[in-house]
Amino acid sequence: MTTEINPTILVTGASGLFGGEIGRQLNDSGFTFRILLRDQARAPEFTGRIETAIGDFANPDSLPAALEGIERVFLASYDGPEVVEHQANFLAAAKRTGVRHVVRLSANGTEEWAHLSIFNQHRICDRQLVDSGLEYTLLKPVWVMQNFTSFMMVNDNIRVPAQDGVAGQVDARDVASVALAALTMEGHVGKDYVLCAEALSHGEIAQLLSRSTGRNITYVDLDPETYRKELESSGWTKKSIDSMLGLFDDIRAGTNSDSMVGDTIKPILGRPGILFRQFAKDYASSI
Ligand SMILES: NC(=O)c1ccc[n+]([C@@H]2O[C@H](COP(=O)([O-])OP(=O)(O)OC[C@H]3O[C@@H](n4cnc5c(N)ncnc54)[C@H](OP(=O)(O)O)[C@@H]3O)[C@@H](O)[C@H]2O)c1
Repeated sequence: MTTEINPTILVTGASGLFGGEIGRQLNDSGFTFRILLRDQARAPEFTGRIETAIGDFANPDSLPAALEGIERVFLASYDGPEVVEHQANFLAAAKRTGVRHVVRLSANGTEEWAHLSIFNQHRICDRQLVDSGLEYTLLKPVWVMQNFTSFMMVNDNIRVPAQDGVAGQVDARDVASVALAALTMEGHVGKDYVLCAEALSHGEIAQLLSRSTGRNITYVDLDPETYRKELESSGWTKKSIDSMLGLFDDIRAGTNSDSMVGDTIKPILGRPGILFRQFAKDYASSI
C-alpha cells in the first residue's frame, strides 16, 4: 500500500457493481480515496490518485492496515451467510482504527422480507452497524436497473414469474451518487435511505429495452416452479432462489413494497432519479 495521499475515505467492494460506481464517481469528482480489494488483479481502472489496500473481510488481520487514517467508509455487501461475521470483523477493525462514519449497502424490505435469507442477512448487518456506535448511513435500493445487463436477461428474454405486477427500479449510478453525498457531505448520519426512481412492469421494461437496443426483447411470464428450475440450473443457491421467489410472489400479489415507493432520490440529490428509459439508452450496448 502506498501512503502519499493520506486519503480519509475507503471504498470496499470496488471491483463490484456498487463499489465500482462509487469509486468512479469519487474519481471523477477529484477526491482522493483508498480502495480495498481481495485481489489486485480485480482492480478497477481509475485514473486519479487512488491508493489500493489488499484485505479480506474474512481475515481480521488484513483489515487494520487498510483502515489506517480512514474516517469514512463505503461498506459493500454480498449475499451469503458468511457476510454477518465478515461485517463484524470489519466493524471491529473500523472502531479500533478510529473510523467515524460507515455508509452501508443494504436493500429495501429488510423487515418486510425478514423470512427471506438475503433480507434477513441485511437486517442483521444493518442492526450490527447501528448498534456498533459508529455513525452510519443505510442505502436501501429496490431492484437495480443494471440487473438487466446480467441475470435478468436470458437471450433477449426477461423470464420471471411477475405476471403484470410492477417492481421498483433504481439506477446503480444514483445509488452511488447518494453514497458519494453521504461520504463527502454533512447531513446524512443516522439516515436510512430507500432508493427508488420508478415502478414498472416487466412488460414495460421489455418494451423500453427493445426500443433502446433495436432488438426484440421479450417478457416471458414464467410460472414459479419453472423459474425455480431455471435458477437451479444456473447454479443459484436454494436460499437465493427462495428469496427471489418470495419477492415475485409479492410482485404478482401487488403487495411488494418496492413497487410502492415514489422518487426518494430528489430530496437527496436535488434531481429526480434516473428513469428506466434513460438507463436503457445509456446501457444499450451492454444489454
Ligand atoms: N442487484 C440488486 O437489485 C440489488 C438491490 C438491492 C440490494 N442489493 C445488494 O447488493 C449487494 C451486492 O452488491 P454488488 O452488486 O455490488 O455485488 P458484487 O458486484 O458481487 O460486488 C461485491 C463486492 O464485494 C467484494 N467482496 C466479496 N467478498 C469479500 C470479502 N470477503 N472481503 C472483501 N470484499 C469482498 C467483492 O470483491 P471480489 O472482486 O474480490 O469478489 C466485490 O467487489 C447484495 O448484498 C445485494 O443484496 C442488490
